[in-house]
Amino acid sequence: MSKISIIGAGNVGATCANAIAHMNYASEIILLDIKQGFAEGKATDMMQSAKQYGFDCNIKGITNDYKATEKSDIVVVTSGIPRKPGMTREELIGVNAGIVKEVIENVLKHSPKAVIIIVSNPMDTMTYLANKITNLPQGRIFGMGGALDSSRFRYYLSNELGCAQSDIQCTVIGGHSDTTMVPLISKATLAGEPVTNLLKKDKLEEIKHNTMIGGATLTRMLNTSAWYAPGSSIAMMCKSIILDQKKIFPCSVYLNGEYNQKDICIGVPAMIGKKGIEKIMNFTLTEEEKEAFNKSAEAVKKTNSVLHDMNLI
Ligand code: LAC
Repeated sequence: MSKISIIGAGNVGATCANAIAHMNYASEIILLDIKQGFAEGKATDMMQSAKQYGFDCNIKGITNDYKATEKSDIVVVTSGIPRKPGMTREELIGVNAGIVKEVIENVLKHSPKAVIIIVSNPMDTMTYLANKITNLPQGRIFGMGGALDSSRFRYYLSNELGCAQSDIQCTVIGGHSDTTMVPLISKATLAGEPVTNLLKKDKLEEIKHNTMIGGATLTRMLNTSAWYAPGSSIAMMCKSIILDQKKIFPCSVYLNGEYNQKDICIGVPAMIGKKGIEKIMNFTLTEEEKEAFNKSAEAVKKTNSVLHDMNLI
């Protein structure tokens, strides 16, 4: 019996519920939204596709009653507003921080032992907020950003190499931000061969840039932020928790000296199992990557300082 609650039935939350159902590893999904009847509608529509897709989990939609989420193994927080074309993720803090704080308090009342995954933007700062107001052990509340950014990195690399995405291994660390995330070119491989041996430097720089602005590019096309890759990335992380797979994803984790950073949540490679983040992987970075990571951490800390100004922490 495994129960996953998803707060927010918008594009990302609903797509995440759908992806989890299709992957067939959870027995119950609660989709909760503040808008009357909205989550119920999406859940019912998904449930009417169960036979077609061959899944047996039960998806239930709920309007704002957190009691339905009680004893969840995992809670995914997607609440808040998405960005519009031309906006940065950081600009959402004024609206989303208050929402996320209230959601976390409600979630913990009913599922004090849940692993919590934060998706709401600005994601690293919302993850930091959730950690600060709860004081749970490191790794129980973490953020989804790097898994998505890595899937964008993989897409651009495979397009250029003309190869299967599944043969590419790649990682993006740092903040989930258009300007400071850090795609690790030094670690990207095609079937074990470093991509630096396969592509020219200027091509790799172009791929890195496209990865960094990947979310903004889609927001411009869609007039709101993306949902298929975000939803499926969360579903993969939930799978690693429920099945205790111990897979490695870059996640926004509260750091206590790891990667030379303290009192910040930012993307680093981490092992995900039943307890949430079970280990932060201390991978080697090039000097250039270390410098970019530190710069990204400075930017995240600057956004975090707004939480003090708002008297939220
Ligand atoms: C994106 C949002 C989910 O990057 O942050 O698409």
